[in-house]
Amino acid sequence: MLVRRASEALAGKELDAILAGCFEDAGLSGVLVELDRALDGGLERLRAGRELPAAVGETLLWYRPPGLACSLLVMVGLGKSSDWGPAPLYRAVAAAARQAARKPRRSVALDTSLVLNDTSVPTAIAAVLAGCQGQDLYRSEKKLFAFEELWLPVGSESDFRTGVILGESVNLARRLVDQPPNVIYPGSFAELAADLCREVGIECDVWDEERLEFERCGALLAVGQGSARPPRLLLMRYRGGPADQPPLALVGKGVTFDSGGLSVKPTEGMKTMKCDMAGAATVVAALHAAARLKLPVNLIGLAGLVENLISGSSYKLGDVLTSRSGKTIEILNTDAEGRLVLADLLDIAVEQGAAALVDVATLTGSCIIALGNHVAGLMGNHEGWCARVAQAARRAGEPVWPLPMYAEYAEQLRSSIADLKNVGEGRAAGAIVAAKFLEEFVRGRPWVHLDVAGPAFLESPKPWCDGATGAFVRTLVEVARQWTGRVEETAG
Ligand code: BES
Ligand code: MN
Ligand code: ZN
Repeated sequence: MLVRRASEALAGKELDAILAGCFEDAGLSGVLVELDRALDGGLERLRAGRELPAAVGETLLWYRPPGLACSLLVMVGLGKSSDWGPAPLYRAVAAAARQAARKPRRSVALDTSLVLNDTSVPTAIAAVLAGCQGQDLYRSEKKLFAFEELWLPVGSESDFRTGVILGESVNLARRLVDQPPNVIYPGSFAELAADLCREVGIECDVWDEERLEFERCGALLAVGQGSARPPRLLLMRYRGGPADQPPLALVGKGVTFDSGGLSVKPTEGMKTMKCDMAGAATVVAALHAAARLKLPVNLIGLAGLVENLISGSSYKLGDVLTSRSGKTIEILNTDAEGRLVLADLLDIAVEQGAAALVDVATLTGSCIIALGNHVAGLMGNHEGWCARVAQAARRAGEPVWPLPMYAEYAEQLRSSIADLKNVGEGRAAGAIVAAKFLEEFVRGRPWVHLDVAGPAFLESPKPWCDGATGAFVRTLVEVARQWTGRVEETAG
Protein backbone atom coordinates (compact mmCIF):
# COMPACT_ATOMS: atom_id res chain seq x y z
CA MET A 1 0.00 0.00 0.00
CA LEU A 2 1.36 3.37 -1.05
CA VAL A 3 0.93 6.09 1.56
CA ARG A 4 0.68 9.70 0.38
CA ARG A 5 0.17 13.13 1.80
CA ALA A 6 -3.10 14.73 0.70
CA SER A 7 -2.31 18.40 0.26
CA GLU A 8 -5.68 19.60 -1.00
CA ALA A 9 -9.00 19.25 0.83
CA LEU A 10 -10.50 15.76 0.60
CA ALA A 11 -13.95 16.96 -0.43
CA GLY A 12 -13.12 17.61 -4.08
CA LYS A 13 -10.75 14.67 -4.49
CA GLU A 14 -11.61 11.60 -6.55
CA LEU A 15 -11.42 8.76 -4.04
CA ASP A 16 -12.83 5.30 -3.62
CA ALA A 17 -13.41 5.82 0.08
CA ILE A 18 -12.97 8.32 2.90
CA LEU A 19 -12.65 7.11 6.47
CA ALA A 20 -13.75 9.56 9.17
CA GLY A 21 -14.49 9.32 12.87
CA CYS A 22 -16.79 10.92 15.43
CA PHE A 23 -16.74 10.94 19.20
CA GLU A 24 -19.72 9.75 21.16
CA ASP A 25 -19.90 12.98 23.12
CA ALA A 26 -18.31 15.77 21.09
CA GLY A 27 -20.94 16.73 18.52
CA LEU A 28 -19.68 17.89 15.17
CA SER A 29 -17.34 20.55 16.48
CA GLY A 30 -13.85 21.06 15.12
CA VAL A 31 -12.49 18.81 12.44
CA LEU A 32 -15.78 17.37 11.20
CA VAL A 33 -17.19 20.77 10.27
CA GLU A 34 -15.46 20.82 6.90
CA LEU A 35 -16.71 17.35 6.01
CA ASP A 36 -20.21 18.30 7.14
CA ARG A 37 -20.12 21.42 4.97
CA ALA A 38 -19.17 19.36 1.90
CA LEU A 39 -22.07 17.05 2.71
CA ASP A 40 -24.38 20.05 2.96
CA GLY A 41 -25.14 19.41 6.62
CA GLY A 42 -25.63 15.69 6.08
CA LEU A 43 -23.56 14.69 9.10
CA GLU A 44 -25.42 17.13 11.32
CA ARG A 45 -28.72 15.63 10.19
CA LEU A 46 -27.44 12.14 11.02
CA ARG A 47 -26.27 13.35 14.42
CA ALA A 48 -29.62 14.99 15.15
CA GLY A 49 -31.35 11.73 14.25
CA ARG A 50 -28.90 9.83 16.52
CA GLU A 51 -27.72 7.79 13.56
CA LEU A 52 -23.98 8.40 13.91
CA PRO A 53 -21.86 5.56 15.29
CA ALA A 54 -20.74 6.00 18.90
CA ALA A 55 -18.82 3.08 20.42
CA VAL A 56 -15.23 2.46 19.28
CA GLY A 57 -15.26 0.53 16.01
CA GLU A 58 -18.99 0.90 15.33
CA THR A 59 -19.44 2.00 11.70
CA LEU A 60 -21.91 3.68 9.38
CA LEU A 61 -21.48 3.28 5.62
CA TRP A 62 -22.65 6.06 3.32
CA TYR A 63 -22.47 5.14 -0.35
CA ARG A 64 -22.07 7.88 -2.97
CA PRO A 65 -22.49 10.70 -0.45
CA PRO A 66 -23.66 13.87 -2.22
CA GLY A 67 -21.05 16.64 -2.25
CA LEU A 68 -18.06 14.30 -2.04
CA ALA A 69 -16.32 12.78 -5.05
CA CYS A 70 -15.92 9.42 -3.31
CA SER A 71 -17.92 6.22 -3.67
CA LEU A 72 -18.01 5.45 0.06
CA LEU A 73 -17.79 7.40 3.28
CA VAL A 74 -17.13 5.26 6.34
CA MET A 75 -17.97 6.95 9.63
CA VAL A 76 -16.50 5.14 12.63
CA GLY A 77 -17.26 5.63 16.32
CA LEU A 78 -14.36 6.88 18.45
CA GLY A 79 -15.96 6.32 21.84
CA LYS A 80 -15.77 8.97 24.58
CA SER A 81 -13.35 11.82 23.93
CA SER A 82 -12.00 11.48 27.50
CA ASP A 83 -10.94 7.86 26.78
CA TRP A 84 -9.11 8.77 23.56
CA GLY A 85 -5.61 7.42 23.02
CA PRO A 86 -3.57 4.97 20.94
CA ALA A 87 -5.77 1.96 21.81
CA PRO A 88 -9.13 3.34 20.61
CA LEU A 89 -7.37 5.02 17.68
CA TYR A 90 -5.95 1.71 16.46
CA ARG A 91 -9.27 -0.09 16.80
CA ALA A 92 -11.37 2.64 15.23
CA VAL A 93 -9.09 3.09 12.22
CA ALA A 94 -8.74 -0.67 11.70
CA ALA A 95 -12.53 -1.10 11.93
CA ALA A 96 -13.15 1.66 9.37
CA ALA A 97 -10.52 0.22 7.02
CA ARG A 98 -12.00 -3.25 7.40
CA GLN A 99 -15.39 -2.01 6.21
CA ALA A 100 -13.90 -0.23 3.20
CA ALA A 101 -11.72 -3.27 2.39
CA ARG A 102 -14.69 -5.53 1.71
CA LYS A 103 -14.11 -4.85 -1.97
CA PRO A 104 -10.99 -3.85 -3.92
CA ARG A 105 -10.36 -0.10 -3.74
CA ARG A 106 -7.66 1.96 -5.36
CA SER A 107 -7.49 5.13 -3.29
CA VAL A 108 -8.68 5.62 0.25
CA ALA A 109 -8.19 8.64 2.49
CA LEU A 110 -8.15 9.15 6.24
CA ASP A 111 -10.03 12.28 7.28
CA THR A 112 -8.46 14.66 9.83
CA SER A 113 -11.01 13.42 12.37
CA LEU A 114 -8.99 10.16 12.48
CA VAL A 115 -5.45 11.55 12.36
CA LEU A 116 -5.51 14.74 14.32
CA ASN A 117 -1.77 15.10 14.76
CA ASP A 118 1.55 13.71 13.64
CA THR A 119 2.08 11.52 16.70
CA SER A 120 -0.80 9.25 15.73
CA VAL A 121 0.23 8.80 12.10
CA PRO A 122 2.30 5.57 12.35
CA THR A 123 -0.35 3.92 14.58
CA ALA A 124 -3.16 4.93 12.20
CA ILE A 125 -1.31 3.59 9.16
CA ALA A 126 -0.51 0.32 10.92
CA ALA A 127 -4.20 0.03 11.82
CA VAL A 128 -5.25 0.53 8.18
CA LEU A 129 -2.92 -2.22 7.03
CA ALA A 130 -4.13 -4.56 9.78
CA GLY A 131 -7.77 -3.74 9.02
CA CYS A 132 -7.30 -4.83 5.40
CA GLN A 133 -5.97 -8.28 6.27
CA GLY A 134 -8.25 -11.07 7.44
CA GLN A 135 -7.82 -14.76 8.15
CA ASP A 136 -9.21 -15.79 4.73
CA LEU A 137 -5.86 -17.35 3.72
CA TYR A 138 -7.38 -20.42 2.12
CA ARG A 139 -10.72 -19.06 0.89
CA SER A 140 -11.17 -18.96 -2.87
CA GLU A 141 -13.31 -15.85 -2.45
CA LYS A 142 -11.34 -13.37 -0.39
CA LYS A 143 -13.19 -11.31 2.17
CA LEU A 144 -10.80 -8.34 2.38
CA PHE A 145 -8.67 -6.43 -0.14
CA ALA A 146 -5.79 -4.08 0.66
CA PHE A 147 -6.03 -0.55 -0.75
CA GLU A 148 -3.60 0.54 -3.43
CA GLU A 149 -3.10 4.05 -2.09
CA LEU A 150 -3.77 5.62 1.28
CA TRP A 151 -4.00 9.41 1.58
CA LEU A 152 -3.35 11.22 4.86
CA PRO A 153 -3.85 14.88 5.78
CA VAL A 154 -0.78 15.01 8.07
CA GLY A 155 2.54 13.26 8.65
CA SER A 156 6.03 13.08 7.18
CA GLU A 157 7.50 10.58 4.76
CA SER A 158 9.33 9.00 7.70
CA ASP A 159 6.08 8.64 9.72
CA PHE A 160 4.52 7.00 6.67
CA ARG A 161 7.36 4.54 6.35
CA THR A 162 7.30 3.71 10.06
CA GLY A 163 3.56 3.12 9.91
CA VAL A 164 3.81 0.84 6.91
CA ILE A 165 6.62 -1.17 8.50
CA LEU A 166 4.69 -1.55 11.77
CA GLY A 167 1.54 -2.56 9.91
CA GLU A 168 3.38 -5.05 7.74
CA SER A 169 5.02 -6.61 10.78
CA VAL A 170 1.71 -6.87 12.63
CA ASN A 171 0.27 -8.57 9.54
CA LEU A 172 3.31 -10.83 9.26
CA ALA A 173 2.77 -12.07 12.83
CA ARG A 174 -0.94 -12.47 12.14
CA ARG A 175 -0.33 -14.48 8.99
CA LEU A 176 2.11 -16.79 10.78
CA VAL A 177 -0.42 -17.40 13.56
CA ASP A 178 -3.43 -17.77 11.23
CA GLN A 179 -1.64 -20.36 9.11
CA PRO A 180 -2.95 -23.81 10.02
CA PRO A 181 -0.79 -26.19 12.05
CA ASN A 182 -0.33 -28.60 9.14
CA VAL A 183 1.44 -25.77 7.31
CA ILE A 184 3.28 -24.13 10.21
CA TYR A 185 5.26 -26.64 12.24
CA PRO A 186 8.71 -26.25 13.82
CA GLY A 187 10.67 -26.97 10.62
CA SER A 188 8.54 -24.80 8.32
CA PHE A 189 8.36 -21.93 10.83
CA ALA A 190 12.14 -21.99 11.17
CA GLU A 191 12.65 -21.89 7.39
CA LEU A 192 10.21 -19.02 6.98
CA ALA A 193 11.84 -17.08 9.80
CA ALA A 194 15.32 -17.68 8.42
CA ASP A 195 14.19 -16.28 5.04
CA LEU A 196 12.63 -13.25 6.71
CA CYS A 197 15.85 -12.61 8.66
CA ARG A 198 17.95 -12.89 5.51
CA GLU A 199 15.76 -10.27 3.80
CA VAL A 200 16.65 -7.60 6.33
CA GLY A 201 20.14 -8.56 7.48
CA ILE A 202 19.35 -10.27 10.78
CA GLU A 203 21.72 -13.12 11.66
CA CYS A 204 19.73 -16.28 12.24
CA ASP A 205 20.91 -19.64 13.55
CA VAL A 206 18.48 -22.55 13.40
CA TRP A 207 19.22 -25.25 15.96
CA ASP A 208 18.04 -28.70 14.91
CA GLU A 209 17.48 -31.67 17.23
CA GLU A 210 21.12 -32.66 17.23
CA ARG A 211 22.25 -29.17 18.18
CA LEU A 212 19.51 -28.93 20.83
CA GLU A 213 20.81 -32.14 22.38
CA PHE A 214 24.39 -30.90 22.21
CA GLU A 215 23.20 -27.74 23.98
CA ARG A 216 21.42 -29.81 26.66
CA CYS A 217 17.97 -28.28 26.00
CA GLY A 218 16.32 -31.12 27.88
CA ALA A 219 13.12 -29.28 28.78
CA LEU A 220 12.34 -28.05 25.25
CA LEU A 221 13.27 -31.40 23.73
CA ALA A 222 10.98 -33.31 26.08
CA VAL A 223 7.95 -31.28 24.98
CA GLY A 224 8.70 -31.99 21.32
CA GLN A 225 9.50 -35.67 21.65
CA GLY A 226 5.96 -36.93 21.02
CA SER A 227 5.78 -35.35 17.59
CA ALA A 228 6.89 -36.68 14.22
CA ARG A 229 7.99 -33.12 13.44
CA PRO A 230 11.30 -32.43 15.20
CA PRO A 231 11.73 -29.24 17.27
CA ARG A 232 13.78 -26.22 16.25
CA LEU A 233 15.22 -23.23 18.03
CA LEU A 234 15.82 -19.85 16.44
CA LEU A 235 18.65 -17.67 17.67
CA MET A 236 18.52 -14.32 15.91
CA ARG A 237 20.82 -11.33 16.26
CA TYR A 238 20.18 -7.80 15.10
CA ARG A 239 23.20 -5.55 15.54
CA GLY A 240 22.04 -2.00 14.90
CA GLY A 241 23.67 -0.39 17.92
CA PRO A 242 27.20 0.38 19.09
CA ALA A 243 29.39 -2.73 19.34
CA ASP A 244 29.64 -2.33 23.12
CA GLN A 245 25.91 -2.00 23.75
CA PRO A 246 24.68 -5.07 25.68
CA PRO A 247 21.71 -6.64 23.87
CA LEU A 248 18.07 -6.81 24.80
CA ALA A 249 16.62 -10.31 24.41
CA LEU A 250 13.13 -10.91 23.00
CA VAL A 251 11.98 -14.45 23.70
CA GLY A 252 8.91 -16.18 22.25
CA LYS A 253 6.96 -19.37 22.95
CA GLY A 254 6.58 -21.22 19.67
CA VAL A 255 4.37 -24.25 20.31
CA THR A 256 3.08 -24.70 16.75
CA PHE A 257 0.27 -26.88 18.07
CA ASP A 258 -0.66 -27.61 21.68
CA SER A 259 -2.78 -30.73 22.06
CA GLY A 260 -1.96 -30.77 25.76
CA GLY A 261 0.06 -33.95 25.29
CA LEU A 262 -0.97 -36.90 27.46
CA SER A 263 -2.80 -34.40 29.70
CA VAL A 264 -4.88 -33.94 26.57
CA LYS A 265 -7.09 -30.91 26.04
CA PRO A 266 -10.80 -31.28 25.23
CA THR A 267 -11.84 -30.31 21.68
CA GLU A 268 -13.08 -26.88 22.77
CA GLY A 269 -9.75 -25.97 24.29
CA MET A 270 -7.69 -27.49 21.47
CA LYS A 271 -9.32 -26.07 18.38
CA THR A 272 -7.47 -22.73 18.44
CA MET A 273 -4.15 -24.15 19.63
CA LYS A 274 -2.37 -23.27 16.38
CA CYS A 275 -2.12 -19.86 18.07
CA ASP A 276 0.29 -21.23 20.68
CA MET A 277 3.25 -20.01 18.60
CA ALA A 278 2.05 -16.40 18.72
CA GLY A 279 4.90 -15.41 21.05
CA ALA A 280 7.50 -16.67 18.58
CA ALA A 281 5.68 -14.97 15.68
CA THR A 282 5.60 -11.71 17.65
CA VAL A 283 9.33 -11.86 18.30
CA VAL A 284 10.21 -12.61 14.66
CA ALA A 285 7.89 -9.84 13.41
CA ALA A 286 9.23 -7.29 15.92
CA LEU A 287 12.86 -8.03 15.02
CA HIS A 288 11.97 -7.76 11.34
CA ALA A 289 10.44 -4.33 11.96
CA ALA A 290 13.40 -3.21 14.12
CA ALA A 291 15.81 -4.12 11.33
CA ARG A 292 13.74 -2.37 8.64
CA LEU A 293 13.49 0.71 10.85
CA LYS A 294 17.25 0.50 11.38
CA LEU A 295 16.81 1.04 15.12
CA PRO A 296 20.22 1.87 16.63
CA VAL A 297 20.13 -0.97 19.17
CA ASN A 298 21.39 -4.52 19.66
CA LEU A 299 18.77 -7.24 19.95
CA ILE A 300 18.71 -10.99 20.42
CA GLY A 301 15.63 -12.91 19.37
CA LEU A 302 14.91 -16.44 20.59
CA ALA A 303 12.06 -18.72 19.60
CA GLY A 304 11.48 -22.28 20.78
CA LEU A 305 9.53 -24.24 18.18
CA VAL A 306 7.86 -27.52 19.15
CA GLU A 307 4.64 -29.46 18.69
CA ASN A 308 3.05 -30.78 21.88
CA LEU A 309 1.53 -34.06 20.68
CA ILE A 310 0.63 -37.55 21.78
CA SER A 311 2.45 -40.68 20.68
CA GLY A 312 4.41 -43.61 22.08
CA SER A 313 7.35 -41.29 22.56
CA SER A 314 5.54 -38.41 24.31
CA TYR A 315 6.86 -37.14 27.62
CA LYS A 316 4.87 -38.46 30.54
CA LEU A 317 3.53 -37.50 33.94
CA GLY A 318 6.20 -38.31 36.49
CA ASP A 319 9.07 -37.83 34.05
CA VAL A 320 11.95 -35.84 35.49
CA LEU A 321 13.72 -33.58 32.99
CA THR A 322 17.04 -31.84 33.25
CA SER A 323 16.72 -28.35 31.83
CA ARG A 324 19.61 -26.57 30.16
CA SER A 325 20.26 -24.60 33.35
CA GLY A 326 20.84 -27.87 35.20
CA LYS A 327 17.65 -27.51 37.25
CA THR A 328 15.57 -30.68 37.27
CA ILE A 329 11.81 -30.59 36.65
CA GLU A 330 9.16 -33.13 37.60
CA ILE A 331 6.37 -33.24 35.02
CA LEU A 332 2.90 -33.43 36.55
CA ASN A 333 0.93 -32.02 33.63
CA THR A 334 2.10 -32.23 30.02
CA ASP A 335 -0.20 -29.32 29.12
CA ALA A 336 2.03 -26.95 31.10
CA GLU A 337 4.56 -27.18 28.27
CA GLY A 338 5.18 -23.53 27.41
CA ARG A 339 7.14 -22.86 30.59
CA LEU A 340 9.42 -25.82 29.78
CA VAL A 341 10.20 -24.44 26.33
CA LEU A 342 10.80 -20.98 27.80
CA ALA A 343 13.00 -22.33 30.60
CA ASP A 344 15.67 -23.35 28.10
CA LEU A 345 15.21 -20.22 25.95
CA LEU A 346 15.65 -17.88 28.92
CA ASP A 347 18.79 -19.75 29.98
CA ILE A 348 20.26 -19.28 26.50
CA ALA A 349 19.30 -15.59 26.42
CA VAL A 350 21.16 -14.98 29.67
CA GLU A 351 24.17 -16.95 28.45
CA GLN A 352 24.19 -14.88 25.26
CA GLY A 353 24.72 -11.78 27.36
CA ALA A 354 21.25 -10.24 27.43
CA ALA A 355 21.20 -7.25 29.78
CA ALA A 356 17.41 -7.46 29.94
CA LEU A 357 14.74 -9.86 28.73
CA VAL A 358 11.14 -9.73 27.58
CA ASP A 359 9.31 -12.94 26.85
CA VAL A 360 5.98 -13.18 25.05
CA ALA A 361 3.92 -16.33 25.45
CA THR A 362 0.40 -17.68 25.17
CA LEU A 363 1.22 -19.27 28.49
CA THR A 364 -1.91 -19.82 30.56
CA GLY A 365 -5.66 -20.05 30.34
CA SER A 366 -5.58 -18.69 33.89
CA CYS A 367 -4.41 -15.35 32.60
CA ILE A 368 -7.58 -15.13 30.50
CA ILE A 369 -9.63 -15.99 33.60
CA ALA A 370 -7.84 -13.24 35.53
CA LEU A 371 -7.77 -10.43 32.96
CA GLY A 372 -10.10 -11.35 30.11
CA ASN A 373 -9.36 -11.63 26.44
CA HIS A 374 -8.04 -8.20 25.59
CA VAL A 375 -5.47 -7.56 28.35
CA ALA A 376 -2.08 -9.24 28.66
CA GLY A 377 -0.64 -10.17 32.05
CA LEU A 378 2.64 -8.43 32.85
CA MET A 379 4.95 -10.05 35.38
CA GLY A 380 8.63 -9.62 36.14
CA ASN A 381 11.44 -9.46 38.65
CA HIS A 382 12.45 -5.81 38.35
CA GLU A 383 10.24 -2.80 39.01
CA GLY A 384 12.01 -0.40 36.69
CA TRP A 385 12.04 -2.82 33.79
CA CYS A 386 8.35 -3.71 34.30
CA ALA A 387 7.53 0.01 34.23
CA ARG A 388 9.54 0.46 31.03
CA VAL A 389 7.72 -2.32 29.22
CA ALA A 390 4.34 -1.16 30.55
CA GLN A 391 5.06 2.34 29.28
CA ALA A 392 5.94 1.02 25.82
CA ALA A 393 2.68 -0.98 25.78
CA ARG A 394 0.76 2.16 26.74
CA ARG A 395 2.36 4.09 23.87
CA ALA A 396 1.46 1.31 21.46
CA GLY A 397 -2.08 1.18 22.84
CA GLU A 398 -1.81 -2.49 23.77
CA PRO A 399 -3.31 -3.03 27.23
CA VAL A 400 -1.31 -4.87 29.92
CA TRP A 401 -1.93 -5.25 33.63
CA PRO A 402 0.58 -6.24 36.33
CA LEU A 403 0.11 -9.37 38.40
CA PRO A 404 1.93 -9.71 41.75
CA MET A 405 5.03 -11.87 42.11
CA TYR A 406 5.22 -12.60 45.86
CA ALA A 407 7.62 -15.38 46.80
CA GLU A 408 4.73 -17.42 48.27
CA TYR A 409 3.48 -18.20 44.78
CA ALA A 410 6.64 -20.22 44.09
CA GLU A 411 6.13 -22.51 47.09
CA GLN A 412 3.65 -24.57 45.06
CA LEU A 413 6.42 -25.44 42.62
CA ARG A 414 8.52 -27.42 45.11
CA SER A 415 8.91 -31.06 44.19
CA SER A 416 9.94 -33.95 46.41
CA ILE A 417 11.95 -35.63 43.67
CA ALA A 418 13.32 -32.70 41.60
CA ASP A 419 14.21 -29.02 41.93
CA LEU A 420 10.84 -27.94 40.57
CA LYS A 421 7.57 -29.38 39.36
CA ASN A 422 5.98 -27.92 36.28
CA VAL A 423 2.58 -27.10 37.81
CA GLY A 424 1.34 -25.76 41.13
CA GLU A 425 -1.39 -27.16 43.37
CA GLY A 426 -4.81 -26.65 41.84
CA ARG A 427 -5.84 -23.70 39.74
CA ALA A 428 -5.31 -20.70 41.99
CA ALA A 429 -3.18 -17.93 40.44
CA GLY A 430 -2.08 -20.16 37.57
CA ALA A 431 -0.70 -17.30 35.47
CA ILE A 432 1.51 -16.13 38.34
CA VAL A 433 2.70 -19.60 39.30
CA ALA A 434 3.76 -20.09 35.67
CA ALA A 435 5.67 -16.79 35.79
CA LYS A 436 7.38 -17.83 39.06
CA PHE A 437 8.50 -20.97 37.26
CA LEU A 438 10.05 -18.88 34.46
CA GLU A 439 11.77 -16.61 37.00
CA GLU A 440 13.86 -19.60 38.09
CA PHE A 441 15.70 -19.45 34.76
CA VAL A 442 16.65 -15.78 34.32
CA ARG A 443 19.45 -15.73 36.91
CA GLY A 444 18.27 -12.41 38.32
CA ARG A 445 18.53 -10.44 35.07
CA PRO A 446 15.85 -7.78 34.57
CA TRP A 447 13.05 -9.76 32.95
CA VAL A 448 9.43 -9.19 31.96
CA HIS A 449 6.95 -11.88 31.03
CA LEU A 450 3.91 -11.00 28.90
CA ASP A 451 1.19 -13.65 29.05
CA VAL A 452 -0.74 -13.03 25.82
CA ALA A 453 -3.01 -16.10 25.91
CA GLY A 454 -6.02 -13.76 25.68
CA PRO A 455 -4.97 -11.00 23.25
CA ALA A 456 -3.08 -13.14 20.70
CA PHE A 457 -6.10 -14.67 19.00
CA LEU A 458 -9.78 -13.69 18.67
CA GLU A 459 -12.12 -16.65 18.82
CA SER A 460 -14.98 -14.48 17.58
CA PRO A 461 -14.42 -11.66 15.10
CA LYS A 462 -14.38 -8.03 16.24
CA PRO A 463 -15.11 -5.01 14.03
CA TRP A 464 -11.36 -4.26 13.82
CA CYS A 465 -9.91 -7.76 13.50
CA ASP A 466 -10.55 -11.46 13.23
CA GLY A 467 -8.32 -14.43 14.06
CA ALA A 468 -4.75 -13.60 14.99
CA THR A 469 -4.23 -10.05 16.23
CA GLY A 470 -0.48 -9.45 16.03
CA ALA A 471 -0.79 -8.03 19.53
CA PHE A 472 2.46 -6.83 21.12
CA VAL A 473 4.50 -6.61 17.94
CA ARG A 474 4.22 -2.81 18.20
CA THR A 475 4.94 -2.89 21.93
CA LEU A 476 8.13 -4.91 21.40
CA VAL A 477 9.27 -2.51 18.67
CA GLU A 478 8.65 0.36 21.08
CA VAL A 479 10.62 -1.42 23.85
CA ALA A 480 13.45 -1.95 21.36
CA ARG A 481 13.30 1.69 20.26
CA GLN A 482 13.84 2.78 23.89
CA TRP A 483 16.66 0.31 24.58
CA THR A 484 19.85 1.94 25.86
CA GLY A 485 21.87 -1.12 26.85
CA ARG A 486 21.01 -0.97 30.52
CA VAL A 487 18.02 -0.90 32.83
CA GLU A 488 17.35 1.98 35.20
CA GLU A 489 15.85 1.23 38.62
CA THR A 490 12.69 3.16 37.77
CA ALA A 491 11.28 4.19 34.40
CA GLY A 492 12.13 7.77 33.52
N1 BES B 1 -1.27 -22.88 25.47
C1 BES B 1 -1.93 -23.04 26.70
C2 BES B 1 -2.53 -21.73 27.24
C3 BES B 1 -3.61 -21.08 26.42
C4 BES B 1 -4.94 -21.25 26.74
C5 BES B 1 -3.30 -20.23 25.37
C6 BES B 1 -5.93 -20.63 26.00
C7 BES B 1 -4.28 -19.60 24.63
C8 BES B 1 -5.61 -19.79 24.94
C9 BES B 1 -0.94 -23.56 27.74
O1 BES B 1 0.06 -24.37 27.27
C10 BES B 1 -1.73 -24.36 28.73
O2 BES B 1 -2.29 -25.34 28.34
N2 BES B 1 -1.75 -23.92 30.00
C11 BES B 1 -2.45 -24.58 31.03
C12 BES B 1 -1.51 -24.76 32.20
C13 BES B 1 -2.05 -25.65 33.28
C14 BES B 1 -2.07 -27.09 32.79
C15 BES B 1 -1.19 -25.51 34.49
C16 BES B 1 -3.64 -23.72 31.44
O3 BES B 1 -3.46 -22.52 31.61
O4 BES B 1 -4.72 -24.26 31.53
MN1 MN C 1 -0.53 -26.41 27.10
ZN1 ZN D 1 0.59 -24.09 25.30
